[in-house]
Amino acid sequence: MRILVVGGAGYIGAHMCKFLSEHGHEPVVCDNLSTGHRAAVRWGSLSETDIGNPEAIDLLLGSIRFDAVMHFAAASLVGESVADPLKYYRSNIANTVNLLDAMRRHGVRRLVFSSTAAVYGEPKANLIDERHPTSPLNPYGRTKRVIEQMLQDCVSAYGFKAVALRYFNAAGADPSGLIGEHHEPETHLIPRLLRRAAGDDLDVRIFGDDYDTIDGTCVRDYIHVNDLADAHLRALQTLDLLPGFQVFNLGNGAGYTVRQVVSAVESVIGRPLGIQVGARRAGDPKALVASSVRAREVLGWSPQWTDLTAIVESAWRWHQKPAY
Ligand SMILES: NC(=O)c1ccc[n+]([C@@H]2O[C@H](COP(=O)([O-])OP(=O)(O)OC[C@H]3O[C@@H](n4cnc5c(N)ncnc54)[C@H](O)[C@@H]3O)[C@@H](O)[C@H]2O)c1
Repeated sequence: MRILVVGGAGYIGAHMCKFLSEHGHEPVVCDNLSTGHRAAVRWGSLSETDIGNPEAIDLLLGSIRFDAVMHFAAASLVGESVADPLKYYRSNIANTVNLLDAMRRHGVRRLVFSSTAAVYGEPKANLIDERHPTSPLNPYGRTKRVIEQMLQDCVSAYGFKAVALRYFNAAGADPSGLIGEHHEPETHLIPRLLRRAAGDDLDVRIFGDDYDTIDGTCVRDYIHVNDLADAHLRALQTLDLLPGFQVFNLGNGAGYTVRQVVSAVESVIGRPLGIQVGARRAGDPKALVASSVRAREVLGWSPQWTDLTAIVESAWRWHQKPAY
C-alpha cells in the first residue's frame, strides 16, 4: 500500500514510516516541519505540505494516489492548549477538516488517526477501556475527541473507514538509534530524564509523592513507539473488515509509578540523578492505565516491549547520540 503519513517527520510518525517500509509498504510523508525534523524522514519521500493550507493538501492528494492516510499531525502540549486554545482548535480540528475534505474529494477513504488517553479525563476505573466515559479536562483532549466524532460522521456520510487509536504514553526509540524522540519543549518524563542524564540543563522533578499509590507517585502506562507502529498497521489491515468507526486503546496494561521510571532510568544510565520531589500539578490523575484487551482481541496486537527497562534502554541509545 502507498500510505500518506501526515506528521511523518515527528516522533511517532517517523517510527511509523520505518515500520511501514520494513513491511513492504510505501510511506509518503506530509509534514510542515513545525515540530518534526527533516532528518527523521528516511523512509519514503517528504512533501513539505501544511495541512492548514487546503489548496496544498488538495494538490498533494490529487497528484499521488494513496491507499490510506495515517494522521499524526497535531499540536499536543496540554499546558499550551489551556493557554492558547484557539491554536489547538485550528491545528487539530480545522486542519483535520482540510485533510478529510481532500480525502473525500480524491476518493481516499481509509484513515488511522492518532488519538489520546486525554479524551477520557478523570479516570473512573483502575483499567480504562474504550467504554469509559469521555470527558476531556483540557482543550487538547477536547480537540481529539471532537475529531473522533467528526470521523464517526464521515464514516456515516461518506463511507469512510476510520480508526482512532488512543495512545497512553508513547515511549522509547527504534533500537537502530537512527530515530528517536525530540520535542522542544520536551514535556515527557522519560526523555526529560534522559536528556538531563546526557547533560541538558533540564529541571526534572517528581510532581507530588503523596498520592494513594504504592510509592506515593503517579502511575502511568508507557507503550513503546514501535508497538504503536505495529498497532497502526494492524488497524489499517483490519479496517475494511470492521464496521464503521472504531476506537482502540493502546497501552501496555501495566502502570509504572514516576519513581519506578526514575529508578529504571538511573539503572540504565548507571548513576543516580538526584531528582527532587515538588508539589502536585493541578489536574494530574493519580493513575492512568489502559485496558488494551480490545486491540488484542480485534487487531491481534500485543505489545512486544513489555519491560520498562528495555523501553528506557532503547530511548537512551537515541539520547546519547541524537541525529537531530
Ligand atoms: N507522544 C505521545 O506520548 C502521544 C500520546 C498520545 C497521543 N499522541 C498523538 O500522536 C501524534 C504524534 O505525536 P508525536 O509525539 O509524534 O508528535 P510530534 O510533534 O513529534 O509529531 C507531529 C508531527 O506533525 C507535524 N505537523 C504539525 N502540524 C502540521 C501541519 N499543519 N501540517 C503538516 N504537518 C504538521 C509536525 O511537524 C510533526 O512532525 C499527535 O497527534 C499526538 O497528539 C502522542
